Amino acid sequence: MTEKDFELPEYTFDKEEGSVAYKSPSNIALIKYWGKKKNQVPANPSISFTLDACATTTKITYKKLKGAATDFQFELLFEGTPKPDFKPKIKTFLKRSEAYLPFLKAYHFKIETSNSFPHSSGIASSASGMSAIALCLMAVEKDLYPQMNEDYLVKKASFLARLGSGSACRSIEGDLVQWGRHAGVTGSSDLFGIKYPYKVHKVFRNYHDTILLVDKGEKQVSSTVGHDLMHGHPFAEKRFAQAHENLDRLRPVLEQGNLKEFIKIVESEALTLHGMMMTSHPYFILMKPNTLEIINRIWEFRSAAKSNLCFTLDAGANVHVLYPENEKEVVHQFIKNELVVFCQNQQYICDRIGFGAKRLY
Ligand code: DP6
Repeated sequence: MTEKDFELPEYTFDKEEGSVAYKSPSNIALIKYWGKKKNQVPANPSISFTLDACATTTKITYKKLKGAATDFQFELLFEGTPKPDFKPKIKTFLKRSEAYLPFLKAYHFKIETSNSFPHSSGIASSASGMSAIALCLMAVEKDLYPQMNEDYLVKKASFLARLGSGSACRSIEGDLVQWGRHAGVTGSSDLFGIKYPYKVHKVFRNYHDTILLVDKGEKQVSSTVGHDLMHGHPFAEKRFAQAHENLDRLRPVLEQGNLKEFIKIVESEALTLHGMMMTSHPYFILMKPNTLEIINRIWEFRSAAKSNLCFTLDAGANVHVLYPENEKEVVHQFIKNELVVFCQNQQYICDRIGFGAKRLY
């Protein structure tokens, strides 16, 4: 599919007003998206577990304007209160989406959104937030063009979510989603995420992710700045090639449930992401001393208890602890006994693999 496929012919219906709500989850990348080209095209393919508990709920109420406006008409409420500092990101998203959603300037939108996780947790809400908005707008478009089929709706929602935030395109469906063209994965695209199309061993079907909140502060490096650091980065090309290689390596690992190899790929990806940040210009260290304490304890515990837990990181200090269902009791105990002391205010979030966004009404 190309961008053109996401432009529909004339709408066949008209609608004065309505409302729609979606709950959309966050996701955690196993192979990381870090670096992008123009128009939100990723520099390399990535794959993620869709999460379940960490989610954004968004309601959009829309009302037709008397005449088409020259600019987007919307108000934004976050947890019931107007949030002007969130508006520029939404406006950028609407601008990028306008060519594909020609109704955007014909309506006033009231966007009410809330997160299941604490706002100040340091967990990025752009993936869940942008995917929820994209889905709501697709529901509006479906009202204007009822012959649209479900497959198209899902693909276009992912396509639009990507225009808001790259990783958001991996939050529409579950449980494993790949985004970015890769020769080895049939149907993969730079424009939207797809459900991972190959066999996945049952051990991964109910994987756990406990998110240890090491640093709940504002992100030190925004993702836009972060991705930009890969332009002219001395190791960029090698890194992009490595992501492709890791996707190939991951395929038999996912199929066979080979946890030892899974751990090697996932942890190496996390450290490479941070390695890229440490070796860019300007350079950043986003891990905190407690991030390293946690990583070392995970390694010690894994070896001593012959466990299969491992970690991954996003562009910050928090640690995602990944482990299979059959280890959940021992790992919970270990987290409580040894890792919680390294979390800010002892806070952590128990999440697990999820199956994608849901329409609420
Ligand atoms: C480190 O999706 O937040 O989490 O496209 O600029 O919104 P934008 O970036 P964003 O980047 C996420 C980067 C990451 C890795 C990943 O999720 O793959």
